[in-house]
Amino acid sequence: MQVFTESFFKLPEIEQIKDYKSVNTDSIVAGIFEEDTKDSALLRNLEKDFPDLIQSIQKKNFKGKAGRSVHLTANGKDIFIVGFGSKEEKKSWIKKENVRRASALGCINSRDNGAKSVLLLGFEGYEREAIEGALLGLYDFRFFKKEGGDENGDKQKRIEKIFLVSGNQVDIGFLKILCEAQNFARDIVNLPGNYINPSTLAEIASAVSEKYGLNCRIYDAEEIKRMGMEGVLAVGKGSSIPPKFVHIWWSPQDARDKIAFVGKAITFDSGGLSLKTPQAMVTMKADKSGSATVLGAMKVVGQIKPPVEVHGIFAACENMPSGTAQRPDDIIKTMGGKTVEVENTDAEGRLTLVDALHYAQQLGVTKIVDLATLTGACMVALGEYTAGAMGNSEDFIKFVCDIGNELGEKMWHLPFDRDLAEKLKSPYADLKNVGDSYGGAITAGMFMNEFVKKEVHWVHLDIAGPAFTRNKIGYFNQKGGTGYGVRTLVEIVRRIDEFRG
Ligand code: BES
Ligand code: MN
Ligand code: ZN
Repeated sequence: MQVFTESFFKLPEIEQIKDYKSVNTDSIVAGIFEEDTKDSALLRNLEKDFPDLIQSIQKKNFKGKAGRSVHLTANGKDIFIVGFGSKEEKKSWIKKENVRRASALGCINSRDNGAKSVLLLGFEGYEREAIEGALLGLYDFRFFKKEGGDENGDKQKRIEKIFLVSGNQVDIGFLKILCEAQNFARDIVNLPGNYINPSTLAEIASAVSEKYGLNCRIYDAEEIKRMGMEGVLAVGKGSSIPPKFVHIWWSPQDARDKIAFVGKAITFDSGGLSLKTPQAMVTMKADKSGSATVLGAMKVVGQIKPPVEVHGIFAACENMPSGTAQRPDDIIKTMGGKTVEVENTDAEGRLTLVDALHYAQQLGVTKIVDLATLTGACMVALGEYTAGAMGNSEDFIKFVCDIGNELGEKMWHLPFDRDLAEKLKSPYADLKNVGDSYGGAITAGMFMNEFVKKEVHWVHLDIAGPAFTRNKIGYFNQKGGTGYGVRTLVEIVRRIDEFRG
């Protein structure tokens, strides 16, 4: 695998303009709230170029509902009117998400219609969401397609330039960095196990660090062993490709705080000797999503250079069955000293994560956020679009969830429950690595909690659902990796001073 540090999807240019009449684009995307569809200054203005616009959209029964779009043509110009839903929507995160999706829908429809340039109109007050929707929505992954064709083999259509109409202050540079990093994370998730393995993933981390001015330390299997990370070793030893432990960090002078982001980095999860079924194995290239998100966020950190020390940590392993694989019944000693009886080798993520969490705590961080495609049970509990948030600090969980939800990265707090702790008891070791069929997301979180000090504010995000979409949804226009969590992690760093805990 050729090492890469940028998404294979090249972003269009974005320019902010005040007067929409100052440019001439192939396509116009006009966003509108339900309340404004009957009559509004925007529509009346547009009627000068698109006669009978208001009548036409009413004839097409367009009422501004979220997810709806109408296409009109006049004088060789195309306009896509996209619905924002109701102005009265009480939940600000739903309103923002409606705008992201509307922007994505308008841009995608414009592109598919052949437009090379678009104008985004009506997005004042929602500039960030407009840009996020456009840049994430236009993403596609064509790495393996002949001549970059689309899923039908058709030649790739591309939007080269977006004009955003707004008089407000917008940091377009930052938003491009952010969305590019999220798309980069999606590429990493989308590349399969014969391209991304523990070695290549570590090389990518090293290249990202080099390019964006981060420190980087990569430990090979020998060093992992010397550090006492038997969890990582046990999970990695079934594969012919040995594990790598990756630590990259940004360390400014007089750092105001110290935080670590830990990601699950199973480059492929076959289940190991507790082998998955063929159906369950498909998409398990996405089991490295947590680490892809951490890499994406660290790449942004390297560019925005915050006054906060930020560590990105993951243990890259391939979970494979073989004559050298760990067995059910094996007992391992983790880096922190606790012993674990391995009852199921498919509950591998937590074994690697607790060593990574221990390593993170040794750095003296005050806060840790980990992201892991940890349990199918979390998808059963919350559906596939919402992450389960757990941890040892209610305040920090709320802080993280509030940030995530505002960004359209949905999260919901799942409660630890001391009655469930019984399920993790082992007759031989300090813990066993699985509970039973109930409350699997929570018992996985509680297992990890056993390895985290009370003094550290720790949030665990089970992203088994939202890391990977099985269908097109919202501004994810292609099934596959979503880069879930990149924007949340970056925002946690930017707003860390607001956390009082
Ligand atoms: N990587 C999987 C979790 C997963 C499942 C992510 C489906 C995305 C979609 C994890 O390693 C796993 O296999 N978990 C087991 C845990 C069980 C053995 C306790 C699971 O969810 O079945
Ligand atoms: Mn597994
Ligand atoms: Zn896994």
